[in-house]
Amino acid sequence: MFDGVARRYDLTNTVISAGQDRYWRWMTRRAIAPRPGEQVLDLAAGTGVSTVELGKSGAWCVAADFSQGMLAAGRHRNVPMVAGDAMALPFADNSFDAVTISFGLRNIADIDLALREMLRVTKPGGRLVICEFSTPVIPVFKTIYMEYLMKALPRVARAVSSNPDAYVYLAESIRAWPNQRQLGRRVTQAGWSGAQWRNLSGGVVALHRGYKLGS
Ligand SMILES: C[S@@+](CC[C@H](N)C(=O)[O-])C[C@H]1O[C@@H](n2cnc3c(N)ncnc32)[C@H](O)[C@@H]1O
Repeated sequence: MFDGVARRYDLTNTVISAGQDRYWRWMTRRAIAPRPGEQVLDLAAGTGVSTVELGKSGAWCVAADFSQGMLAAGRHRNVPMVAGDAMALPFADNSFDAVTISFGLRNIADIDLALREMLRVTKPGGRLVICEFSTPVIPVFKTIYMEYLMKALPRVARAVSSNPDAYVYLAESIRAWPNQRQLGRRVTQAGWSGAQWRNLSGGVVALHRGYKLGS
């Protein structure tokens, strides 16, 4: 599916999110706070659009994804890219200062396994940031947003995307996704410490954080 959306992926995101995607990526970088000299894994990085934002920090940031089509669509970007499955990461234990995943966790077949893999490749004391769609916190806004997701979004995607059906999947997968509290619990169950989250855009997106115990 992602090979099919790759060609116009970045443009479609900006259109269907009304430009909010840039703000969400900027907030994700701020939450990770990468420092020059650090090594950061951007998992399910797709075209590398999320990795470019992280790279502005001066840290060494690598994009990993299992879709050859998505990686190829981002080939023009000046970021290191690795083809790999989030459920069996091609990295040694304790490799990264921080691991992050933007709009990717929801698409992984076994999210608990992916969360454990992310923990494995993170150095002791290292951090996790997940940027993912979530549940709006104001009931009236939630109703309007769900209407947008199920009715307007697939129509907008038909106009801009190279694979509009994928955006029906997007809407359905957001609806079925655990809310903030439920995902926070899964992060803790996977072995991460200090799990917490903050809402962006009224809970349309949530940033989840955790860290790996040890020093
Ligand atoms: C919605 S895109 C997110 C891309 C990018 N992080 C962004 O912020 O725009 C989700 C990505 O998850 C990737 N993905 C899904 N399951 C995966 C897995 N098991 N291992 C690696 N990547 C996976 C897809 O190939 C796709 O590129």
